Amino acid sequence: MRLVSPVTALSLLAAILASGCQAAVIRAPGVLEDDEPPPPVVDPEAFFRANVEPILVAQCRVCHETTAASQGTVFLAPGGDYYASIWSYREGRLLTPGDGAGSVLVRKVTVDPHLGPSVSEGEAALFRQWIDAEGMTTEPPPVMPPPVEPMRTGFYPVNEGANRMPLAEVGLSGAELVFTATRITGGIIMTDVVLVAGAGGLVVNHPRFIVRDDTTSMERYERDEFSSVTIRAPAGGTGRLVDRFVISPFPTVGSLAIEFDTVGPYTM
Ligand code: HEC
Repeated sequence: MRLVSPVTALSLLAAILASGCQAAVIRAPGVLEDDEPPPPVVDPEAFFRANVEPILVAQCRVCHETTAASQGTVFLAPGGDYYASIWSYREGRLLTPGDGAGSVLVRKVTVDPHLGPSVSEGEAALFRQWIDAEGMTTEPPPVMPPPVEPMRTGFYPVNEGANRMPLAEVGLSGAELVFTATRITGGIIMTDVVLVAGAGGLVVNHPRFIVRDDTTSMERYERDEFSSVTIRAPAGGTGRLVDRFVISPFPTVGSLAIEFDTVGPYTM
């Protein structure tokens, strides 16, 4: 590809501005003009499919289609509609239409810490162009498919001794996660970890813990040991998760959430 040098581009730009006629720029195919503003995006969804989706397929799909590799951040519906699944992921937290540079999706692969790779500046520009254009359209966002994200509770501090974490946020009103916690150097030991059902009983699949450092707000998934576990408990009953579970490291000022793949009332 032939790149126009910055100096040439600048003088060219000056000439264009002086003539007041932008339409005078004649671009040979494949020639990239430095400092040239990108052409306006007419159809953000079409732009996404042509320019952004191929990057997601090549560089992001390997982790973000599955729970384990993405540590629960599944925003690419497996084999599904990426455009809709990105929009619907955790109430649209990845996109701020009109603010590509400030959007979580872009920040995560440019400036913010990320367990996955960063993208090139050229690729980041395509992400930004698309999200900026989303702010210009008056069309409603795509129809949301069923949420792809797992069911997660809020974060609760862990106290030495008895702990009871409500599970109402995942739709199990009256149910609790109950355990005893003991501080060890750099971590905690959880013992007698059980789920106590509310009035409807409960059935949950694939429980896993998320640890948050409350001083930095950084979150991480604890190792995934219960991927094939299903816990069932009738109304008022209990279901045992594990006798003893060590989380280390656990922050000095930290809190805990629990997440499931599926959650439902008790059935025989
Ligand atoms: C090697 C695996 C891997 C790859 C490849 C990867 N990521 Fe990630 N990504 C993760 C993990 C693990 C997390 C959760 C921990 C973290 O925030 O770093 C994450 C988190 C994220 C988040 C934050 C989600 C949220 O809920 O806040 C975004 C956005 C993201 N990745 C975007 C991307 C994009 C875009 C690509 C492709 C350019 C990509 N990732 C490629 C592993 C990966």
